[in-house]
Amino acid sequence: MSEVENQTISILLPTSTVAVYSTDQSTLQAARDLENDWRFARVNVQDEEGDVTNAVEVYQDIDSPDLIILQTDTIDDSFTAQLEELAGHCSEGTSAIVVGPDNDVNLYRKLIDMGVSDYMVRPVTTQDMASVVAKALVDKIGVTDSRLIAVLGAKGGVGASILSEMLACAAAEILDQKTILLDTAGGWSTLSVGLGFEPSTTMNEAVRAAENDDEDSLKRMLHHVSDKLSVLATGGDVMLEPTVNAEQLECLIDMLMVKYPVVIVDLSQSAEFLQKMVLSRAGQILVTSTPTLPALRLARSLIQEVREIRGGEDSDVSLLINMQGQAAANEVSKKDIEKAMEFSVSAYLPYDAKMFLGNESASRKLTDDKDARALIEKTLVPILKKFVAANTDEETDPQNEDGFFGGLLGKLKTKS
Ligand SMILES: Nc1ncnc2c1ncn2[C@@H]1O[C@H](COP(=O)(O)OP(=O)(O)O)[C@@H](O)[C@H]1O
Ligand SMILES: [Mg+2]
Repeated sequence: MSEVENQTISILLPTSTVAVYSTDQSTLQAARDLENDWRFARVNVQDEEGDVTNAVEVYQDIDSPDLIILQTDTIDDSFTAQLEELAGHCSEGTSAIVVGPDNDVNLYRKLIDMGVSDYMVRPVTTQDMASVVAKALVDKIGVTDSRLIAVLGAKGGVGASILSEMLACAAAEILDQKTILLDTAGGWSTLSVGLGFEPSTTMNEAVRAAENDDEDSLKRMLHHVSDKLSVLATGGDVMLEPTVNAEQLECLIDMLMVKYPVVIVDLSQSAEFLQKMVLSRAGQILVTSTPTLPALRLARSLIQEVREIRGGEDSDVSLLINMQGQAAANEVSKKDIEKAMEFSVSAYLPYDAKMFLGNESASRKLTDDKDARALIEKTLVPILKKFVAANTDEETDPQNEDGFFGGLLGKLKTKS
């Protein structure tokens, strides 16, 4: 699998439009379901009851979208003739995917040869629709860099907040990515202590600014830790009442993801409904636990629940064991942790009061402490690198810039 295809799985797809023409309700439903998939937050998917003939009519008058999906019950010469006619009305950058009735290799080859990006056989599941459309958009437009990373502790006090901070500092200062750190704990946030800022705003004010599309107000709510790292300076919220709902938080995250290639969300001490929303949307999840029985037990259950809300998938979940050695005699050994968790551990971080609590009370970033930075480079950067590319100015090459209709026109030209 190419790097691009690999990344297709967990990225926020580029801003684009997709039109689905189908007379089959399950195909239309699969298209509508994309709306609930976080990767499609910036993709406008139109589902149209109809077929290639309707598409031909529509694009005589209006601009064609980035991708057209055409479901058809028969693939014969009249269908391919209509495809060619459609090509005449579409812009060269439009790609096409055909959903047909049969699994026929020759037909598949013929359509691909005509310039169609992909061929799917009915019935199309939401998951198939999502991956085929994502791949077609990435091939055409290229990957966007946005990454949403969620950090959650198996229980309180296991280091989720400090890890969020370390990850954010590492993404910004070691991998050189423009990063924003957001704490969804409202009045329970401790981020201001670790990073040395006054919590000048509340989650409620931040989500209101996002709902009103008020970029200027939101900008004023940021604390700039360094050149590449900003933190949403919330924490002034009341502690004993929820101040935002999941939909509002999602609106805020959507807005931040457009501006920041890396968005890190600390979910510790947050309301469950906020945790659940972010965990279902996040491209990557870091669960942290200490090597003690109660924490590991919760970590195991938590990973199981995360897996369930992500449709049985846990490939984007990493487990970090923190504070190793704090009470060595009462800790579960490395060997037993992996066995009991049935999940591999991505990194172990030692208990080090001087490093963690010392820097925290001095409000010093851990990347500014020599030993802490070395620890981050050894343990967290390799994990981070798996999903956040170092800033090398490497742009992903769109592989098929001409799209289907460019391809088809090209073929037609060579034929004549
Ligand atoms: N590896 C470690 N060694 C020593 N202290 C740590 C370590 N990790 C975290 N801490 C400290 O433990 C406390 C709780 O960490 P925090 O990140 O606030 O936990 P959480 O967000 O999971 O509740 C903080 O004071 C933090 O500095
Ligand atoms: Mg915390």
